[in-house]
Amino acid sequence: MSRTTELSSAGNRVNPGGVASSERKVDVSTSSKQEPVWAIEFKKICKSFGAFRVLVDLDLKVQPGEKVTLIGPSGSGKTTVLRLAMTLAKPTSGDIRIFGESILFDQAGTLLSSAEEARIRRRCGMVFQQFNLFPHLTVLQNLILAPTTVLKQSKAEAKESALRYLRMVGLEGKVDAYPAQLSGGQQQRIAIARALVMKPEILLLDEITSALDPEIAGEVLDVVRRIARESGVSMLIVTHEMRFAREVSDRIAVFDGGRIIEQGTPEKIFISPESERTRSFLQSVLNH
Ligand SMILES: Nc1ncnc2c1ncn2[C@@H]1O[C@H](COP(=O)(O)OP(=O)(O)OP(=O)(O)O)[C@@H](O)[C@H]1O
Ligand SMILES: [Mg+2]
Repeated sequence: MSRTTELSSAGNRVNPGGVASSERKVDVSTSSKQEPVWAIEFKKICKSFGAFRVLVDLDLKVQPGEKVTLIGPSGSGKTTVLRLAMTLAKPTSGDIRIFGESILFDQAGTLLSSAEEARIRRRCGMVFQQFNLFPHLTVLQNLILAPTTVLKQSKAEAKESALRYLRMVGLEGKVDAYPAQLSGGQQQRIAIARALVMKPEILLLDEITSALDPEIAGEVLDVVRRIARESGVSMLIVTHEMRFAREVSDRIAVFDGGRIIEQGTPEKIFISPESERTRSFLQSVLNH
């Protein structure tokens, strides 16, 4: 199976020097049966909380290297989609595949062990609205914790990688700072670096600027734009920032009531949406 999208600081995609990667979107890999292998595929996903159906027969596929943004009204199920991908929640029915491997079942249809689940899930990294940095650890300690414990990197290796990604987010000078000594925008950029040091192949971003002042949000979005432009990492993004969505996305999926009501290129969604519901949603957010 191809792992061509790996976001490797030592490799050819994102690097602190800012050398652009060769292509923005990677071709869909193929398995021996010539079926495309999607970076992530949600297959007929239903998710209910009690009687409340949050996601209804959701089908969503992201190509390796593709940047897909979910937009839609509050409560329509966008965060739930990302949480399911990170195995922070389990679907009520359906399957989720990461590079062709189910994060729920083995080939015999038995539920995966937690170790297997963790192995596959590790191909995803997530950045949350609230930065969730460890307050008692310095920036460097925050960045090397998971690489040394989960990926078993040596401290020196993890530090070198951390410094590389800190440079990429423009915060190499903050290596010894504690989160409380940083602005919200800086903390969020550290949170992005913390996700990247784990070398995810799929990056999940959930409203990463909505806790920030618009001015500060810009610096965080700049970092994400750069990662999107320069790396082959697949991205599934949830945002209310429509201009950002338009610039960064290969495809936009419009959610409403736990379903995708329409999807397409940013041009199609923003200039000639088919659905009346998409039009009214865009009107409400763009006039906000
Ligand atoms: N753990 C939970 N228990 C019960 N209901 C939940 C739970 N998590 C989410 N929900 C409900 O599922 C629905 C979808 O929530 P979700 O957070 O996915 O929406 P969203 O599209 O991300 O909204 P927003 O734009 O406000 O972030 C909401 O009605 C929410 O109240
Ligand atoms: Mg949400």
